[in-house]
Amino acid sequence: MKYLIGNWKANKNLTEVEEWFKTFADLFNQKRPDWSNNLEVVICPPFVYLQKTSVLIKNYSLPIKLGAQDVAPFGNGPYTGEVIASQLSELVEYVIIGHSERRKNFGESDEILSEKVKQANAAGLKIIYCVPDDQTIIPKSISIVAYEPVWAIGSGKPETPTNASQVAKVIKNNPKVTAVIYGGSVKPDNVVSYLEAADISGVLPGGASLDPLQFWQIIVNASNTKA
Ligand code: PGA
Repeated sequence: MKYLIGNWKANKNLTEVEEWFKTFADLFNQKRPDWSNNLEVVICPPFVYLQKTSVLIKNYSLPIKLGAQDVAPFGNGPYTGEVIASQLSELVEYVIIGHSERRKNFGESDEILSEKVKQANAAGLKIIYCVPDDQTIIPKSISIVAYEPVWAIGSGKPETPTNASQVAKVIKNNPKVTAVIYGGSVKPDNVVSYLEAADISGVLPGGASLDPLQFWQIIVNASNTKA
């Protein structure tokens, strides 16, 4: 099973969300491919669209799962502006924790991230834990890690599949880690090279997931890999 996780970050308005799904569903309905045996396709929209996207996925009968881009390090209580794990668990199956943009722009430390992991685990969310290298602390309970070198994110200069696979192999020394996925300038034309690399179990495209045509092509190309 390979993971394709689309991270929309802080992009799109409501009309653009609806257009994304209309275009994607049109492509899907031309052949209605069944990728459920070899691909886990997840999109992570901004919090404010999770409800809407869950309805759109249901109405268009799309084999796509939902993920959140972040979660609070607290349970319910006086934490203005936060979205907590138990609320997310009503809408999503996955949550991204520790994305480098959160570490950098919001000062999220390993300690804060481990609190987020505790909350997400308690709510039964599947965690995609992001690290920029193979030296960063990974909480013990984590099974899915995304290796995302900071310089490759949004730069159009991806890490080579060989290097990414080597880093993934080191990350897999963490006893519970079963899947390491790669993120950083993944596009339709390079996705297969990552999926065919020995220790990589999926990809996490940001920019390319914003365009339904590109995200669709990533899925089509991924479905044709032997891996
Ligand atoms: P990118 O983003 O595909 O636009 O490089 C990846 C990520 O930050 O998750």
